[in-house]
Amino acid sequence: MIAPDLSRFIAGLPKAELHVHHVGAASPRVVAELAARYEGDTAVPADPALVEAFYDFRDFTHFLQTYLQVVDLVRTPEDLWTLIYGVGGDMAAQQVRYAELTITPHPHLARGFAPREFCEVIEDARRRVEADFGTLLRWCFDIPGIPGPPADQTLSLALDQRPDGLVSLGLGGPEDGVPRSQFAPHFAAARAAGLHSVPHAGEVTSADYVWQAVRDLGAERIAHGIRSVEDPALLDYLAEHEITLEVCPTSNVCTRAVPSLAEHPLPALVQAGVPVTVNSDDPPMFGTDLNREYAVAAELLSLDEKGVADLARAAVKASFLGAEGKSALLAEIDAYAAQNSSAPLT
Ligand code: ADE
Ligand code: ZN
Repeated sequence: MIAPDLSRFIAGLPKAELHVHHVGAASPRVVAELAARYEGDTAVPADPALVEAFYDFRDFTHFLQTYLQVVDLVRTPEDLWTLIYGVGGDMAAQQVRYAELTITPHPHLARGFAPREFCEVIEDARRRVEADFGTLLRWCFDIPGIPGPPADQTLSLALDQRPDGLVSLGLGGPEDGVPRSQFAPHFAAARAAGLHSVPHAGEVTSADYVWQAVRDLGAERIAHGIRSVEDPALLDYLAEHEITLEVCPTSNVCTRAVPSLAEHPLPALVQAGVPVTVNSDDPPMFGTDLNREYAVAAELLSLDEKGVADLARAAVKASFLGAEGKSALLAEIDAYAAQNSSAPLT
């Protein structure tokens, strides 16, 4: 447990979130509301308390199966808009000023969304979030770990529609037995078109998958990447090339990627000089939020207020926000830290 003063400091700290999935970030209230719309045609409960109980995962595969059941509740433009707008409001309440939201378009396209309609809805929700809450959203379009048409469709959507908020291409879903390298042509095309590369790798597999992401997909940041800890040469490489790992501690415990928070490799990654950010991944699904993940990191890394503010700065620096936006958000963090520090003035 961290001190109440540090919790308060975290709660008010302006933050950036780099790794959070759009459906995984939906509040149990919004998920229950969507489930009520499709009662009889979904196993997802229509009561927020039961939704929370529904999020109890045996392992990573079970988590992904559950996740897809919630994804399947997003069937109309209004469903999608409601979900993203709600996520934006929840983030703003945590003082998240900037978020890169990972969206997996494929299941929505398979459910009948036309590519242009899909992008118009998310862009409209993004603009409303910014106007109403002041939180900037950017998109990472995520290939759902399935080669062939799902991967091709994700890339086509990104390149043909190219919504204003899109900054990167991702790769998520199942990882074991899904070599990262097979998606090299997709990432090469995305990078040639100016998109950043942020695949999941080394969440539940091995350091080898992280090497593939770095070497074959040109990864600039890695989603999770915690298994890098098993390979000292990889740790050196990540540190030397300043490839940031988007670490999500509570997620890793809830999906059984690591046995417990006490055994989480975050301290070893930091010790090895690897740049890290702290993120929430699918927060209500894991009974967490970004503030809580900062508290978890503070405990694992024995951070004080300055250390926590440095974590927030690291996320801004590793983000794909433009130079001006970065400077403004860093200045806001500095001002907050100066005004709210409980350290005695010297
Ligand atoms: N989709 C949603 N959450 C995910 C995770 N933690 N890993 C891979 N794919 C995901
Ligand atoms: Zn993720």
